[in-house]
Amino acid sequence: MNKIIKTESEIKKMRISGKLASEVLEMIEKHVQPNISTEDINQICHKYIVQEKKAISACLGYHGFPKSICTSVNDVVCHGIPSKKKILKNGDIINIDITVIKDNYHGDTSKMFLIGETSILSQRLCKIAQDSLYLALKIIKPGIAAYKIGEIIQNYVEKNNFSVVKEYCGHGIGRCFHEPPHILHYKSKENNIILEKGMIFTIEPMINAGHAQVRSMKDGWTVKTKDRSLSAQYEHTILVTDYGCDILTWRKNEKINPQLFNKN
Ligand code: MF3
Ligand code: CO
Ligand code: CO
Repeated sequence: MNKIIKTESEIKKMRISGKLASEVLEMIEKHVQPNISTEDINQICHKYIVQEKKAISACLGYHGFPKSICTSVNDVVCHGIPSKKKILKNGDIINIDITVIKDNYHGDTSKMFLIGETSILSQRLCKIAQDSLYLALKIIKPGIAAYKIGEIIQNYVEKNNFSVVKEYCGHGIGRCFHEPPHILHYKSKENNIILEKGMIFTIEPMINAGHAQVRSMKDGWTVKTKDRSLSAQYEHTILVTDYGCDILTWRKNEKINPQLFNKN
């Protein structure tokens, strides 16, 4: 049996890890306000994961990452490091990316938070990023080629005059944080695997308001847009089912069903 297909007992554990990761995002919502530092957000999440949920933050120490979560503000595309010095202010947009380990299995999810009154551009960017993820979720089922995911995301984003970051992709997930397959967010023939029931992977498009190019900061982690335009990202961990997919990191207030029946 293909190694990237999860067993029933693994799927059970992945449901628990996914739910736990989504609960961190639900919990942190009320704290994500003007004047809080990203380090304070990090500490609240860390305590919740460790003390309340008896789980582990997968980010802390991952290839040397120094904090428990990623906090990516405005032109930061991904892997922003929480800091006492980074204070959220009215009009900011922030992605909070949570990855937990519970009973040896990972759950990985992220969403945007809009701070106070944000610009029309910020709101549109976040909405297009989330909708691009949702459009992709609505085509997942056994038998479709993985490149279809990238195709639908890229077409939708570019039709809306935004761009897709090419350097980072979705990934299989399970006992390891990042497992095969790679799930690209743009159309590429390299992504020619066929989805099968029992695969678990993330989809996590990073969408820029300007050009797609990114640059890495000297801290070795923070990735920003090269042209300093805003960037937004949403991420879910999903399970391919007989009929479509289950969103393992679904949040209670989301306007999409946790189980998707993808008929055509
Ligand atoms: N959570 C990110 C992802 O979606 C990875 C973060 S790695 C870290 O794959 F080390 F920066 F935490
Ligand atoms: Co991920
Ligand atoms: Co993530």
